[in-house]
Amino acid sequence: MVSKKIAVLAGDGIGPEVCRQAVKVLEAVAERFGHDFRFAAYQMGACAIDATGNPLPDETLAGCREADAVLLGAIGDPKYDNNPAAPVRPEQGLLRLRKELGLFANIRPVTAYDVLLPHSPLKAERIQGTDMLIFRELTGGIYFGEKGRRDADSAYDNCTYSKPEIERIAHLAFRAAEGRHQKLTLVDKANVLETSRLWREVVQGLAAQYPTVAVDYLFVDNAAMQIILNPKQFDVILTENMFGDIISDEASVIAGSLGLLPSASIGEAALFEPIHGSYPQAAGKGIANPIATILSAAMMLEHFGMNDEAALVREGVDEALHNNILTPELNPKAPYTTEQVGSYIAFWVRDSSEQQWN
Ligand code: IPM
Ligand code: MN
Repeated sequence: MVSKKIAVLAGDGIGPEVCRQAVKVLEAVAERFGHDFRFAAYQMGACAIDATGNPLPDETLAGCREADAVLLGAIGDPKYDNNPAAPVRPEQGLLRLRKELGLFANIRPVTAYDVLLPHSPLKAERIQGTDMLIFRELTGGIYFGEKGRRDADSAYDNCTYSKPEIERIAHLAFRAAEGRHQKLTLVDKANVLETSRLWREVVQGLAAQYPTVAVDYLFVDNAAMQIILNPKQFDVILTENMFGDIISDEASVIAGSLGLLPSASIGEAALFEPIHGSYPQAAGKGIANPIATILSAAMMLEHFGMNDEAALVREGVDEALHNNILTPELNPKAPYTTEQVGSYIAFWVRDSSEQQWN
């Protein structure tokens, strides 16, 4: 029996609904494998601002620090999006959490599932077989540089990177490429940005340590086009914070739904979250896809070294995909609810031999 403490930050909008399903699946894993998972819930984001005025209360940060891993739903509320003058914002909580926990590498796998090929707006033959892993730097760059107003009509955001910041994530990306298809693509804007030229220099410098990995370099504008034109050319993509934010949403179109893409943020701690946002229009309606969060939980299990457990969760997800046990964006004619999709996968995990549920 293995004991793990998991901090759950359900957050805003659909966050609590999708987190509940992932927790249910983790409980099924614990039951089936005889583990002891302890969940502790904390507030972050708009819900934390409403309750305490602070998007990342001290108690939340302390709870995350003492946990073995953090499961995060989503944060954000439209009442802040359209108010540029808001003094505190939900996103500040997430950004500070990433920084405080030293989560410098955000890993976002993008897979084209065969059964979902018709759901992608892209042609099936172009995307079939896509399997890429995006390494997005998460605690540097323009997100964290000095920012402000010079006067009422002028604003700035500074983008800074240091060699050690680039090296530590580049090593992770190279090692991942070694264990996959031996290809690493650095996405940057080295024809314009000095920080990008530093990224290239550092990555070129490290390449000799990974002789089996073929490295290539793409400008981000071209990469945005290539991801849609020919996603199969990519294995591991390595990129800085903001480019990674943008291209990972773009790449999600390949999977057929943003509701399918998980992520792991690692460094001095480990946090697992879907790449989608809080989707406030869907909150409470039972239409949000919990699979991205459930697959994030699978990545958490892999982080714990529980590979059999994670494989079973992935099998449960595959079963849901094959049997069309899917939320309305993927199954508009006979949709299942968030809760039903979660229950189906949890039942599969608990007792895959009987395949019974509800
Ligand atoms: C993401 C999100 C966040 C980001 C927001 C909510 C701050 O879009 O995790 O991709 O930009 O990093
Ligand atoms: Mn994003």
